[in-house]
Amino acid sequence: MDNLEKDIKNGLKYMHGTKRLLYGKKYYPPFYQTNEALYLYYPLFPLNEARILTVASSGDHVLEAVFRGAKDITAFDQNHFAYYMSALKIAGMKGLEWDEFMRFFAYRTKIASFQEDVYSKKIRSYLASDVQIFWDTLYDEGFEREKNKEQNQLLILDPSDLNVSSKSYLEEKNYEKTRARLKYINYHYIESELSKLPKVLDKNNPYQVMLLSNIYDWLGDIRQAYYPDFIKKKLGPYLDPNGVCVAYCMFHTDEYESWNQDDPIFEMSHCEDEKNKMIVYTYKKGNN
Ligand SMILES: C[S@@+](CC[C@H](N)C(=O)[O-])C[C@H]1O[C@@H](n2cnc3c(N)ncnc32)[C@H](O)[C@@H]1O
Repeated sequence: MDNLEKDIKNGLKYMHGTKRLLYGKKYYPPFYQTNEALYLYYPLFPLNEARILTVASSGDHVLEAVFRGAKDITAFDQNHFAYYMSALKIAGMKGLEWDEFMRFFAYRTKIASFQEDVYSKKIRSYLASDVQIFWDTLYDEGFEREKNKEQNQLLILDPSDLNVSSKSYLEEKNYEKTRARLKYINYHYIESELSKLPKVLDKNNPYQVMLLSNIYDWLGDIRQAYYPDFIKKKLGPYLDPNGVCVAYCMFHTDEYESWNQDDPIFEMSHCEDEKNKMIVYTYKKGNN
């Protein structure tokens, strides 16, 4: 974003295999799909016409929010590559038909195509110029075309298998609905670590919903202990009086208990269907 040259340099290092994956810093392979059952927990809070704050990650959170009617979206992420990845996904939806999108980003398949001709003919023109330069350079200098013409997995992607197959906007008719709505969204991006966000948000323009994904799981012990307080005291001022903040942990399920022990600020919801199961914790400002 503001460090285009550095971002490109680091992107190429990943693609050439000269940099190792190190989560939690400014550069690491971004998720290319969500591993959360967004369709299960998003219906817990109304997003219609809402102003929301969300992690950027793969861009899936943003698209799900658009599908559910969010109007004004601020995305943030500490990983510089998430800016480019989420922008590519959003532009991909603008430029691609449903089946092309599914192939390009590997939905319901294991391997993303990331085909260069699809990128250059159908996606590129929907990208901001810095994002174009980033992906252009990676396509020009990052691929090892001779080894694999449909080069894809050397892109800076999370190598794990993240196929959560059921996402609402991936049904064709929902995809079209989301695609149509994308035209009317106000979208902003903030490259920031969570703890620095309060310094750059605007108190006069509060959010109805904040979607913090499972950032909790990625924090060290000290920051984990402080997390409920951080949400209430540091993010709370940027929430609408009736706003909600969704912050949960995916892997430390017993942590939920301690979160609520001293100051029961979180509401717990069980969401499940035949495919997925999750517990979501929601901070409701109006209850405190
Ligand atoms: C918590 S991760 C997990 C993946 C997530 N479940 C998904 O479906 O995409 C989601 C995003 O949060 C970002 N992230 C993690 N810790 C962060 C922090 N302290 N501040 C800002 N972003 C963070 C990661 O870079 C990643 O893009």
